[in-house]
Amino acid sequence: MIPKVRKAVFPAAGLGTRFLPATKAQPKEMLPLVDKPLIQYGVEECIHSGIQNIIIVTGRGKSSIEDHFDVSFELEHTLESKGKKDLLAIVRSVSDMINVAYVRQKEALGLGHAVLRAKELVGPEPFAAVLSDDVIHSEVPAIRQLLDIYEYYGASVVALMEVEGDAISSYGAVDAEPVAHNGTNNRLYRIRNMVEKPKASEAPSNLAIIGRYVLTPEIFHSIESIEPGSGGELQLTDALKHLLRSRPIYGFRFEGKRYDAGDKLGFLKATVEFALQRFDLGNEFREYLKGLKL
Ligand code: UTP
Repeated sequence: MIPKVRKAVFPAAGLGTRFLPATKAQPKEMLPLVDKPLIQYGVEECIHSGIQNIIIVTGRGKSSIEDHFDVSFELEHTLESKGKKDLLAIVRSVSDMINVAYVRQKEALGLGHAVLRAKELVGPEPFAAVLSDDVIHSEVPAIRQLLDIYEYYGASVVALMEVEGDAISSYGAVDAEPVAHNGTNNRLYRIRNMVEKPKASEAPSNLAIIGRYVLTPEIFHSIESIEPGSGGELQLTDALKHLLRSRPIYGFRFEGKRYDAGDKLGFLKATVEFALQRFDLGNEFREYLKGLKL
């Protein structure tokens, strides 16, 4: 039987240099998109995918993340005594639905290194990994889409996205062959090889790995087996490449739109589009935008 995925790891210990100075004293995962921190979008995606156990790998400024998912007695008491039930429900909703555990990455030595910090808390079972600065708007939550593949094949699955031109050099790129699945042959791929941040001219395809993974626990051994790679960091892509030697890995070109909210322009695009979709803000915001001299 294929073991069930019960836990999700959120690496949130990166330096966020692309978003300085906002990320000097707080993690970028706490930047608010409209009115919710980025990490809450990722956590809600997991809840809607059936995962309630959240492991957050924190670095500097970790207290703001812990406080966000903790009970705020004073705030809740004040809202309650003022009869602000709607706000109370908003404040309580997410923390009531999840179990959160924290582990520290003392130095930002790479995404692979951050995931490895969660080894003891994950244990010998499959898990999801979510990079919450990749925000995904989709009908079916992106993690759920990957879980469907995992539950069918029992193997690790990474999220893939097609990128244009030279952009591939900012991502992990895959060499992969399409696999017929659910009546399509352009969504699921069996991965043959992968390269972290290739030169555009040397990239094996325009299919980039983005921040959603379902991983079998052998990945921990692979992370422990590799040497630092691109940028002197322990790269998750290199560990996946190591894992490929002994296990199959699938890539799924998920349905939905992804925003790179760890980048200033990507964050602005996400802010505008998410605000436009909001039932309480969308109309007024749309009118405001129409009135701008662009
Ligand atoms: P990024 O590649 O976006 O790096 O990390 P970064 O350091 O956070 O940001 P920039 O590029 O300097 O602006 C992808 C994800 O991996 C986590 C980050 O928090 C983010 O969720 N990460 C990265 C860690 O947890 N630890 C690391 O050592 C590196």
